[in-house]
Amino acid sequence: MTENVQPLPTYAWEPTTDALAARYGLPRESIVRFDVNTSAFAPDLADVLAKSFDPPLCEYPPSDYAELVAAAADAYQVARDEVLPTAGADEALDLIARANLREGSVAVVPTPTYSMYRIVSEQRGAKVVSVPRSGARWGFELDIRAIARAARNASLVWLCEPNNPTGSYEPPERVADLLELLTADAADDGREPPTVAVDEAYVEFVGRSVLPLRSDYPKLVVVRTMSKAHALAGARVGFAVARPETLAPIVAYRAPASVSTVSAAIATAALRRPELAAANVTRVSVQRTRLLTSLADLKWHPHPSAANFILVQLSSPAAANAAAETFLRSGLVPRTFASDHSLADCLRLTVRSAAENDRLIEAARGIPK
Ligand SMILES: Cc1ncc(COP(=O)(O)O)c(C=O)c1O
Repeated sequence: MTENVQPLPTYAWEPTTDALAARYGLPRESIVRFDVNTSAFAPDLADVLAKSFDPPLCEYPPSDYAELVAAAADAYQVARDEVLPTAGADEALDLIARANLREGSVAVVPTPTYSMYRIVSEQRGAKVVSVPRSGARWGFELDIRAIARAARNASLVWLCEPNNPTGSYEPPERVADLLELLTADAADDGREPPTVAVDEAYVEFVGRSVLPLRSDYPKLVVVRTMSKAHALAGARVGFAVARPETLAPIVAYRAPASVSTVSAAIATAALRRPELAAANVTRVSVQRTRLLTSLADLKWHPHPSAANFILVQLSSPAAANAAAETFLRSGLVPRTFASDHSLADCLRLTVRSAAENDRLIEAARGIPK
């Protein structure tokens, strides 16, 4: 007898640059990725790569990643024992799910949001309860009362601030309101409040973190990355940041040395040179305004964004598909949404360099909305 095994949920990317070059008969170097919310320019860290690594690459990195942890702790203004380096934010999300969810646990996910929260939760056998955000017209706001209600029997609540893919943002005061509700409900029911993971992958674009809230809500875990404002997606470095007692079970699940010596050195240098990320944030903000204005001038419907990408609304899923196809034929890769997604009539576009954004605006000119 064959057992009916459900396939595990997995993350789906847009096709690779090589695959798209082959499909559309375009030179590889003409293809620009507007789909992955990365940066157009890597920071200049050539001096770090030119030096010999200590320890050398024939050895494992130090098990405590002391220099990287110190650089992150200083940058985030937290204690060193509150920082766990991970192989990108995605590894942190997976470890948080492992530490907090079992078969049959409940995880709450306000939607639409980054799909990895559902994926890592379901991979642990947890039941995911989605709580819809308000519609686009109301700025994709969190419904904090509905989240608190759904969290009554949950062990984990996922939040994303600013939120991918909507670009919307709830300030720390709103998250604090939710944490207060969760604390009060748990006290009423005589149980522990759930762990709350706040993914701050794009936080440098708004400059305000929920990290100070961990003193009132000890089960808060904040996720950070070097992939976005720091423009180091290829280095694969992220962090889980939480009070030591909340971090301890998460630390237990990380494989030894999951961050390479090379990546740790690059990330340490970038965190010690905050002017590099600051310059990128300024560049993105200037280009985001340009892109928003130009698309609106063309009678497109871009939503406001607090991050390095813009969600644009088309008239229907078919119009979104057709627009994606036209962009792709010009070598511009948008992020698309599956036909059963609540944003199937939208595309998400990364804010890139002035010249790359010009190509996008030019291509958008001829596309029916
Ligand atoms: C909200 C959010 N979290 C995490 C990640 C993954 O980050 P990393 O590259 O650090 O794994 C992304 C990447 O797009 C993201 O949008």
